[in-house]
Amino acid sequence: MGVGISAHKLAGTVASLGAMGTISSVDLRRHHPDLMAQTGKSRDKALIDSVNLIALDREIQAANRIAAGGGMVAVNIMRAVAEYAAYVRQACESGAEAVVVGAGLPLDLPELTADHPDVALIPILSDARGIALVLKKWMRKNRLPDAIVIENPRHAAGHLGAARLEDVDQPQFAFPVVLEATLALFRELGIERERIPLIAAGGIHTHGQLSELLAMGASAVQLGTAFAVSEEGDAHINFKKVLAGARPEDIVTFMSVAGLPARGVRTPWLANYLEKEEKLQRKAGPKECTVGFDCLHQCGLRDGMAKAGQFCIDTRLAFALEGDVRRGLFFRGAEPLPFGSQIRPVKDLIEFLLTGRQPGDDPAFQATVHAAA
Ligand SMILES: Cc1cc2nc3c(=O)[nH]c(=O)nc-3n(C[C@H](O)[C@H](O)[C@H](O)COP(=O)(O)O)c2cc1C
Ligand code: SF4
Repeated sequence: MGVGISAHKLAGTVASLGAMGTISSVDLRRHHPDLMAQTGKSRDKALIDSVNLIALDREIQAANRIAAGGGMVAVNIMRAVAEYAAYVRQACESGAEAVVVGAGLPLDLPELTADHPDVALIPILSDARGIALVLKKWMRKNRLPDAIVIENPRHAAGHLGAARLEDVDQPQFAFPVVLEATLALFRELGIERERIPLIAAGGIHTHGQLSELLAMGASAVQLGTAFAVSEEGDAHINFKKVLAGARPEDIVTFMSVAGLPARGVRTPWLANYLEKEEKLQRKAGPKECTVGFDCLHQCGLRDGMAKAGQFCIDTRLAFALEGDVRRGLFFRGAEPLPFGSQIRPVKDLIEFLLTGRQPGDDPAFQATVHAAA
């Protein structure tokens, strides 16, 4: 979860409890004052990119120290980011056990990671068509994904895997439809069902949902918003309060500058931007990157793509990370959170998802869990 929402503390803690903790690779220098001192006001893309690779390396090493050999530390890299290939290589070199790639089709991931055959490759896809495309392309290169995240754009946070805003609710993205079609695809391609675990993501907040998804053929679930608001989440406390305190009517879907639909909380900046969006889109035209970082392959603001968002996403997400409620962009999923507006430790969240019991429900159970930990 970028920018900086899931860094070493969150990912390391999740991994230390036996799960897979994922660091978002985007613009991690923002967690390192020495790297920000070098680049805070700089428009030198090469310099910003190079310090971001240093930050990614530091975050992976720190997460691995917290994980202490527990579960897995993974790195998420968005295909839409200009330095995607460099982030993938750095993640492998710095000791990530998996790379998880979304926001575009990672058709070239097998080649990029060829020197690191032990790193698990996990694409994030939203429908059976995308899964078929990636599988067939990768099979020609003798590689299969080590797992696939199936993210439903109807419920998820941040960038959504649908081409247009009006598509996010389409029935082809529903978990039962995608899981069934994917298992049929595996049979057609001669892939054993157990060979590629399927990880459902988007809106999961109860133990019941987890059980249902496992019964439908998923092997695991991925959560975003609930971990972002956990005690160990790497963002400012205001960030967590905005996400945890949002009411259903505060959550909006809009076009991101990366040309994909996105979901977040209607905070003052977003409300104001959405009011002016049409006017800004009418005036869209190519211009220089506002901060010289050129973070995206294709940027609606810089490249003058009128259908895309017309704001600098890097700047807005950085404000949110710092807890600037007035100026930030706060990504959030559409569904309720397991603990409502409470901010609780990661351990409580994992226990709740696995058992359905709220920590504190059963003193005997608590004693067992604490003894096991
Ligand atoms: C604040 C925030 C930032 C996110 N950033 C990213 C990201 O950088 N890359 C990505 O693949 N997914 C990102 N996501 C999506 C999550 O990884 C996850 O798949 C999704 O939020 C699941 O839905 P949920 O939030 O309802 O659990 C983000 C989610 C949140 C809440
Ligand atoms: S203007 Fe576009 S490319 Fe430049 S930093 Fe902002 S979002 Fe990235």
